[in-house]
Amino acid sequence: MTDTTTIHTSAIHASTHEDARSLATRWDAQQTGYIRHRADRFDTIARVVTTIAAGTPEPRILDLAGGTGSLAIEVLSHLPHARAVVADKDPALLAIAADLGSADARLQTAEVDLAHNDWARHPLIAGVPFDAVVSSTALHWLQPATLVDVYRVLPDVLRPGGILLNGDHLAYSERQESVLARIAREDDDAMQRETFAGGVDTWDEWWQAVADSGRYADALARRDAVWGADLHQAPPKVTLGFHLEALRSAGFVETGTVWQYLDDYVLYGITGSPALT
Ligand SMILES: C[S@@+](CC[C@H](N)C(=O)[O-])C[C@H]1O[C@@H](n2cnc3c(N)ncnc32)[C@H](O)[C@@H]1O
Repeated sequence: MTDTTTIHTSAIHASTHEDARSLATRWDAQQTGYIRHRADRFDTIARVVTTIAAGTPEPRILDLAGGTGSLAIEVLSHLPHARAVVADKDPALLAIAADLGSADARLQTAEVDLAHNDWARHPLIAGVPFDAVVSSTALHWLQPATLVDVYRVLPDVLRPGGILLNGDHLAYSERQESVLARIAREDDDAMQRETFAGGVDTWDEWWQAVADSGRYADALARRDAVWGADLHQAPPKVTLGFHLEALRSAGFVETGTVWQYLDDYVLYGITGSPALT
């Protein structure tokens, strides 16, 4: 009796993980269709984090607006002794990340809305400071004022000498960089045409796959409630200069970029020692 129950429970567990794994793989393919060189960006972030965390017995990583946890998982593959928290507002993406985490105790999830100024008080975020805060293709979804507020909180979330690495799609200035703005737009269009002609899910098709799986019905219902009308509202885009100045104003002592392809960047900020900040 007990053995049958155990086998049944572990079969459910395995199939939950399989569904999450399959959707996460399709998510990565879909996102790569929108973002040329997404994997390079992830690899760069993971390598820099590995160097920053060298010598730390159990590095702590926060993946901000981390969705299904793709970037956190990439960092953990470079730093097997680290632990990562995936923080996001979207209940459906986080449910997939949590299912992935059910097979990997190093991965935890925190449901937070970065637009609410108490997000850093979440029990998995407050307390022991992080060695690195990473983010990918996400912070440009915040209103500029919210982005500034999030950056201002980060020095308290990071340890001294810790790093923020944000791989993001920023905007060329249409007025002062109109040629590059056009080249970047055309490159995005070409990338998307190539990928989606090859049978990779579009954004809408991927969400349909989540609905079709049936496993995430409750999370999808909560998703509608959590986002409301905000789901389809793209905020104004801001430039690299805006990000770097916001980081400096927040108290990061060293800021800049570690990677760039057209208007896709990985920008960074390093926190100073307590005496410097
Ligand atoms: C394009 S997805 C990228 C997800 C993940 N970082 C990746 O690269 O696969 C953008 C993410 O930003 C999250 N997001 C947007 N606004 C947010 C907010 N106010 N608070 C927390 N997460 C937010 C979304 O839920 C979504 O997971």
